[in-house]
Amino acid sequence: MIISEGKIRIEVPEFQKITSKNRVFYNPEMRMDRDLSSLILSFFKGVVLDGLSATGVRGIRYVKESGLDSIFNDINPEAVKLIEKNCEMNGVRGEIHNRDFNLLDLRADIVDIDPFGSPSRYLTSAFRIVKPEGVLCVTATDTQALCVSKKACIRKYSAIPLKTDFFRELGVRILISSILREGMKQDYSVDVILAYAHKHYMRVFLRVKKSLTAMEKNIEDLSIVYYCGCGYRTYSKELIQRCPFCGRKISFSVPVWTGKIKNDSFLDRIMKRDISSDLRKKMTIIKNEIDTPFYYDIHKLAKLYKFDLKKIDSVIDDLREIGFKASRTHFSQTGIKTDADLSSLLKIFV
Ligand SMILES: C[S@@+](CC[C@H](N)C(=O)[O-])C[C@H]1O[C@@H](n2cnc3c(N)ncnc32)[C@H](O)[C@@H]1O
Repeated sequence: MIISEGKIRIEVPEFQKITSKNRVFYNPEMRMDRDLSSLILSFFKGVVLDGLSATGVRGIRYVKESGLDSIFNDINPEAVKLIEKNCEMNGVRGEIHNRDFNLLDLRADIVDIDPFGSPSRYLTSAFRIVKPEGVLCVTATDTQALCVSKKACIRKYSAIPLKTDFFRELGVRILISSILREGMKQDYSVDVILAYAHKHYMRVFLRVKKSLTAMEKNIEDLSIVYYCGCGYRTYSKELIQRCPFCGRKISFSVPVWTGKIKNDSFLDRIMKRDISSDLRKKMTIIKNEIDTPFYYDIHKLAKLYKFDLKKIDSVIDDLREIGFKASRTHFSQTGIKTDADLSSLLKIFV
């Protein structure tokens, strides 16, 4: 069947259910991500490798909407046939490869990896392929591994996750930590353009460069994250055994990226563009979100401390009134980001 997405039309296989078993994969639910990717990449120049192309939808949109040249690749020969057809239908020319991503022998200014599940097996090659001063775009849909499943997270991301009320943000930050640690093995530092979670996936856009000074700075942004059942959370490079708030044994997640997860001036430029109302809604929340780890889930705190819920916006106003920074967060509709400590936050409710 033929569908329209952004400025292009492509053929996608008929499907009853979205599954990796489909002849060639296409997920309409990722459309907003493709809209955003195409928008972000329009601020860059050069050649983008759509490394796991499936129908070719991303790479074709990058040519037609972002002004880039695309290289396509997919291990599935059926996908390659469809990419060829879709390129032709949209008047797009580009190299099309039918290889295992990890065996590609080429370089690109921008590398996009959008796999089934975890991107971990492709990261070494992504850094081998991307040029210095380039951009990496990485999707992860194995949110279970990034957020809660200890063994899977250790296997795939060499990190220890933790069940917290801010698990979506922690997952995104573990993903960045893992990409950074992979990049540093090839002398790459990272600079986060934007990292976010939406529905079933997480997505990270990074500028990468070969710089020892920048890498050393990146290392300062890797921390141990502590969390206690009483709601207390902090991050540090030091070892902490007991929760400073309630005195119980405290749990941890490590190594976690605690640096910035968005570049505000870049987002300002994005917001000036003509974008769909759905995307604008999402981006407005992200743009207004304070970049302080980690959000509090107000519903969970209310249950724990047995207080009556207040409207999120009024809690934010109250926190601001007493001098703290506070905002909503795109990670959760019941979440609040603030630089207030737990006891100051609880005082708002009593
Ligand atoms: C989630 S789909 C990509 C979806 C596509 N980027 C989009 O936006 O619609 C993942 C694709 O990776 C391909 N793939 C899986 N393993 C691969 C490998 N080792 N090398 C190259 N392609 C691979 C699959 O055939 C599948 O088409």
